[in-house]
Amino acid sequence: VHTLLQTLSDIVGPSHLLTAPELRARYETDCTGRYHGHAHCVVRPATTAQTSAVLAACHAHRCPVVPQGGNSGLVGGAVPHDAVVLSTERLNRLSPIDTAAAEVVAEAGVRLEILQNACQAAGLVFGVDMASRGSATIGGMVSTNAGGLHVLRYGSMRAQIIGVEAVQADGTIFGKIPGLRKDNTGYNFPSLLTGAEGTLAVVTRAHLLLHPALPHTCTALLALADIESAVILTAHLRLHLPSLHALEIFFAEGMHIVAEHFQQSLPFPEEHSTYLLVECADTTNPLAQLAAALTRPEVQDAAVAEDSVGRERLWRWRERHTEAIRSIGIPHKLDIALPLRSFPAFTREVHRQIIDIAPHAQTILFGHIGDGNLHVNILGLSPDDMTIDEAVFRLVSSYGGSISAEHGIGKTKRPYLLLHRSSEEVSLMRQMKEVFDPHGILNPEVLL
Ligand code: MLT
Ligand code: ZN
Repeated sequence: VHTLLQTLSDIVGPSHLLTAPELRARYETDCTGRYHGHAHCVVRPATTAQTSAVLAACHAHRCPVVPQGGNSGLVGGAVPHDAVVLSTERLNRLSPIDTAAAEVVAEAGVRLEILQNACQAAGLVFGVDMASRGSATIGGMVSTNAGGLHVLRYGSMRAQIIGVEAVQADGTIFGKIPGLRKDNTGYNFPSLLTGAEGTLAVVTRAHLLLHPALPHTCTALLALADIESAVILTAHLRLHLPSLHALEIFFAEGMHIVAEHFQQSLPFPEEHSTYLLVECADTTNPLAQLAAALTRPEVQDAAVAEDSVGRERLWRWRERHTEAIRSIGIPHKLDIALPLRSFPAFTREVHRQIIDIAPHAQTILFGHIGDGNLHVNILGLSPDDMTIDEAVFRLVSSYGGSISAEHGIGKTKRPYLLLHRSSEEVSLMRQMKEVFDPHGILNPEVLL
């Protein structure tokens, strides 16, 4: 390890090789507090060439490397275990926005918020948005195929990518920047690396497509009697609101936790069980479209906002779930996808099963109902106890759902991959891993 550290220091400069425990600490624990690891060092290359040299050196020493962006992942996918952390934070250059093509090239360490601000100044938007925008990086978002709040409109990260540049475990640089919007020339590396969780290569740059900004946005928070009403309304809104931009769900329990933690007063005079946050955006004002939806019989109460302050106030109820839950304890965060019609039966069953196994556990559900994606957050469990995680994954599987909708497999779900993917598929994944990384140094504890 000592000679490797010297080589790495020569490549990036001594101030970008962090070995002291207090400097390494923030790269060794994930943002949920559930995962802790140990890094030999943190290395921060500033260019693709330096990234290549770092990987070649680690490869020669057969030393595991864990790529890390904003460290805001939720499945332990960037926590090192006796590995070198390759932090992308200095790979932070953004090309000028190509407004004619509506495209941009971002290095892996560019934070989402920085990209969003640059797009906004050019009258464009990036299709993926999420509450962790201040820390999540483009490289991490590519590697986890991040979803977020507008998947129902723009698709997830995979749908935004025109080209990637990446570095293989042995230091070989590959990929195409700039890419082309249409390019049918065989196996598609941008697609393959998206969602590969840093196990095949380290993404260094991504060529991304952008969308025209929509000048009119309105948002409504709807109070409903139950999850059945939420499913009926979701199906209706998807069909009847062409300007639908976000469709999120949460429940009374989450609403109360947010209210308490952030000292917010409740938005409605009465208690309700289920809440939908509906957002519409368009080139003309979509308020009439949205207002028509509010007359549906499922809607018990509603608050609507058109201005950014009012809209943000409504969004807070949903976006602040993660932080409010985290303030209570270390949650088990399970991110699942289900057929929409299964939501009512699943939510009832999941509460029942969790209570049966751990009567004192607290379960908070929220998520992106427009994408059939629920976040099952459970408080009051010990971080290593996987009993409930496994029970929930088995339940999800029995409904034909996925054990990861948008957070990835990481370390948390690695033992359960076969609940959703066939042995033939997993075997092909292993063979791909072997081709890209025959010595298994890239994020070895994750995914496979
Ligand atoms: C969200 O939807 O807010 C994110 O996936 C984060 C989380 O699940 O806590
Ligand atoms: Zn989410």
